[in-house]
Amino acid sequence: MLRRRRTTLQTVKSLDAFPKTSEECVESTPTGGTMSLLSLTVMVWLVVMEIMYYMETSFKFTFKPDTDFSEKLKINVDLTVAMPCKYVGADVLDMTGEQVMTFGELEMEDTWWELDPDQRAHFDGVQRVNSYLRDQFHSIHEFLWRSGYTNIFGDMPPRRRFPQKEKDACRIYGHLGINKVAGNFHITAGKSIPLPRGHAHLAVFMDEQDYNFTHRIDKLSFGDASPGVLHPLEGDEQIAEKNFLTYQYFIMVVPTKVDTYSHRGSTFQYSVAEQHREISHEKNSHGTPGIFFKYDVSALKVEVVERHEPFLEFLTRLCGIVGGIFTCSGLVSRFVGFLVNCFTCRYFMAQKTASTEEETSKQSVVPSASLLQAVNLSPSDVGPQLTSKTIIGHYYTIRCVSFN
Ligand SMILES: *[C@@H]1O[C@H](CO)[C@@H](O)[C@H](O)[C@H]1NC(C)=O
Repeated sequence: MLRRRRTTLQTVKSLDAFPKTSEECVESTPTGGTMSLLSLTVMVWLVVMEIMYYMETSFKFTFKPDTDFSEKLKINVDLTVAMPCKYVGADVLDMTGEQVMTFGELEMEDTWWELDPDQRAHFDGVQRVNSYLRDQFHSIHEFLWRSGYTNIFGDMPPRRRFPQKEKDACRIYGHLGINKVAGNFHITAGKSIPLPRGHAHLAVFMDEQDYNFTHRIDKLSFGDASPGVLHPLEGDEQIAEKNFLTYQYFIMVVPTKVDTYSHRGSTFQYSVAEQHREISHEKNSHGTPGIFFKYDVSALKVEVVERHEPFLEFLTRLCGIVGGIFTCSGLVSRFVGFLVNCFTCRYFMAQKTASTEEETSKQSVVPSASLLQAVNLSPSDVGPQLTSKTIIGHYYTIRCVSFN
């Protein structure tokens, strides 16, 4: 029993890939020291860089078919039209032909078209920042996704100065829950009256001068608020020079799933193309004056995922750095040591050739048989290059020499 255990111990011992070198065999040199210092510095630097790199996150954007058909699409609106509310109707017509009422209703509130100075400053700010963000989106989109702000601009400050005239505009705001199919959210003259197929807007008591589709968009977005999503129409302001004008916004809504460290959820982004034209039946430009947001929903869904690189990969890289530098610096230091040796040997050799040759021949001795026996070596292991100096002391010294 005991014996078996001892043999197993012996076997395990023989498997040791890290045999200890005794201190007598270790030789420290200035080149080695310098190399160690250098490589330690490089190692620390690289490890710090690697940790910093690991702390950073990156974004991955993937496209997938959107399979969520039953989901409702929420449209958030806050805009002002330069017509009193009694002349304006706002509603949705989509491919399903559902009645207007099923989508919910927007609030309407009479107000003044002109903003007071604070509000004007706010709106101009929104306009400027939004156009800057749109231009720079590709260079700063990572920053935007990371930012965590769902509402970069904040809300319009309340009016403090009230003009001494009648309210001449209508603010339309709120949410509508629409179907995820192509449709058309529009603001036209007259209240809508439902018809079996679609609806009509009743605008019989209006003169031409009453029409003015000048408008300002404070908010127009789809789905829930999320950081990183830009709403290109916010800050849009159009002044109508003619009474019968139609504004058309062609909107492509892109379902977006956001999974970042600051926010998780699904929302919608959109891109938009704008066009406006005068309605004039004499000039063969037909249609209904109004503001039309024609939207369609993309069949592809974007997924935005923010991640650290995998921890295991990070560990592997750390090991690679430490081990690689350790090995490489060993090689380099040996090579440098070799060069130094070569150089100095040559140099001293040239000076001392004559004198040393005699001396070394005198010093060379064959180790005594008893000594070799004591350390388990045969004379052939040791070889003729062994000098008396090396053999005198020690078991280990002989081992070193014979193994080199
Ligand atoms: C519509 O209203 C805006 C703002 O009050 C005004 O600047 C514009 O001239 C009006 N347009 C027409 C055709 O009356």
